Amino acid sequence: MNEPADLPQQTLRLHDCPNWLYLLREYDALYRSGSAGGSRLIRSHRKRVRDSLAAIIDANPEIEARPAATKPVTAHLGRALDLGELGAMRCMSRALERVADRLTWEYGYEKVPKALSRKYAYCEVLGPRGPVRAEQLVLGFVLFAPQTTYPQHSHKDIEESYISIAGAWSENDAAVHAPGSLILNRPEQEHRITTGNLEPCLLAYAWTGSEERLTAPGMKFSSNRTVRVKQGI
Ligand SMILES: [Fe+2]
Repeated sequence: MNEPADLPQQTLRLHDCPNWLYLLREYDALYRSGSAGGSRLIRSHRKRVRDSLAAIIDANPEIEARPAATKPVTAHLGRALDLGELGAMRCMSRALERVADRLTWEYGYEKVPKALSRKYAYCEVLGPRGPVRAEQLVLGFVLFAPQTTYPQHSHKDIEESYISIAGAWSENDAAVHAPGSLILNRPEQEHRITTGNLEPCLLAYAWTGSEERLTAPGMKFSSNRTVRVKQGI
């Protein structure tokens, strides 16, 4: 399961690490196949992600091993992967399981509400901070416990998509998303996530934007006033 033991002193590159490579190919498959639902914006986002990813895989980037880290919510990861393996996203779920012991789970916010700190975390698999080094794209996973509300937020200069891997969830109370669904959040677009009562929820995500912004995304929750102003309330 681990990467080659006889290469510890030299720089590891993506093609030396099949499990990371297979995981990225699953992302490539998700953004290459499937429908854009007739949306021009989603079609162009899909293309941007897969074109960036294809170039990154071709360039055989460095693997920067980050220390593995868990958060309280990662106690739900096994169940989320089990659910993922029963559904349309089974290949992605299996590929993620192969690197599960090397993931760096984090919060990303300076201040995380106490209740949320037990129910949410994300891990990056590709981006400026690694483990697969890339500058123009971030790929990762976000995990939620059952009955979680992830507060309203938006991303400055970053376009974000989620692909649902396991569990049921809603964004802005607008729909219930099942495994395989893709949800696009344009830069500055406010969004709030809620998850189902009984099962955890695992989403794959992609961020596109400038290298500067992807390196320091400045994540923060929207204040109530900001939300009211942006929504014209
Ligand atoms: Fe988001």
